[in-house]
Amino acid sequence: MRRLGVLTSGGDAPGMNAAIRAVVRTACSMKLEVLGIERGYQGLVEGQFRPMDVRSVSSINHLGGTVLRTARCDAFLTEEGRASAAANLQRAEIDGLVVIGGDGTYRGAVAMIQEHGLAIIGVPGTIDNDIPGTFATIGFDTAVNTALDCIDRVRDTSEAHEKVAIVEVMGRRAGFIALASGLAGGAEAVLVPERPVDWEALAQSVCAWQARGKKSCIIVVAEGAASAEEVAAAIETRTGVRSRVTILGYIQRGGRPTARDRILATRFGYHAVRLLQEGRSGLMVGLGNADEITPTPLSRILEDKKGIDEELLDVLGVTAS
Ligand code: F6P
Repeated sequence: MRRLGVLTSGGDAPGMNAAIRAVVRTACSMKLEVLGIERGYQGLVEGQFRPMDVRSVSSINHLGGTVLRTARCDAFLTEEGRASAAANLQRAEIDGLVVIGGDGTYRGAVAMIQEHGLAIIGVPGTIDNDIPGTFATIGFDTAVNTALDCIDRVRDTSEAHEKVAIVEVMGRRAGFIALASGLAGGAEAVLVPERPVDWEALAQSVCAWQARGKKSCIIVVAEGAASAEEVAAAIETRTGVRSRVTILGYIQRGGRPTARDRILATRFGYHAVRLLQEGRSGLMVGLGNADEITPTPLSRILEDKKGIDEELLDVLGVTAS
C-alpha cells in the first residue's frame, strides 16, 4: 500500500478529529501518503480530495465536528454513484480507505468492497453508540456527558419550582444516550425507542412520585421513542400535571470531546491503519469488553443489532423511587 484515503460520514461525533489525526499520523509514520476526502461519500463521488500530512492535523484533537466535514450522500446509494467513486479513487491512486461513521457508512463500504474490490477499514463514530462489535463508539461519551450536564441544570430549576421536566435527547433508533444520561442524572424515567411507551404506566408513575413528595421529576426521552411535547401532552391529559420541555438537539452532538472519546478515537485510528497495512479489509475496529481493540467483519456488524442493557432500565426504576 502506498496511499490511503480517510473520510468521515453520516452524523458527526466529537472525537472524529482525533481519529483523523491518528489515521494521518500513523500512516505518515509508515511512509504512506494520505488524502483526506471531504464531505464523506459525497466527496468520494465528486472527487474532492486533499493531501494531508502530519502538520495538517495539528491542534485538532480538542475540536468537535470534523475537519473533513461530513454528509449523508444519496448518490452513493446507487451503483452509478459508487462506480464514479471507485473511478475517482483509482485516478487518485488510493489503495486503502478508512471510513469513520455509523452503520450507513458501513453499508456503503461493504457495497464498495463487493463491487470494486477496495480495501476498507471502518471506525465506529456516532454519538448513538448503536454499533454492534464495539462497547463504545466515538462521540458517545461526550454526548452523554453533555446531556448529563443539561439534565443537572434542569434538575436545579425543576427542584426549585417543584416541577416535572421532560428532557429530549438524541437517538432516533437507539436509547443509549437516554439511558446513560438518565441513569447518571437520576432521572425518574427514561423512554427509549427499543421499548414501546406505556403512557398509562408513565402517568401513574408521575402521580405516585408526587404522592411520595418528590420535589422534581425528570423524564428523559430519546427522540426516537417520542417527542418531549408528546410526553408532556400525554401526562397532562391523563393527570392534569403540566411539565416543562427541554429539547437538547445538536447541543449534544457538538462540543469538545471528552478525554475518553479522544483516547478511543486515537486508538481506533491507529489500529485501522495498521490493519490496512497488514492487507486486511472489510473490518471495523471496535472496543472489546476488556478494553482491547478487536476487529469485526463489517458484514457481521450490518447483520447484528446492538441492544440496550435492559437491566439498567430496571435499576433506574428501582433507584428513582
Ligand atoms: O448522529 C446521530 C444522530 O444524532 C441520531 O441520534 C439522529 O437520529 C440523527 O443523528 C439526526 O441527525 P440529523 O438531524 O442530522 O439528520
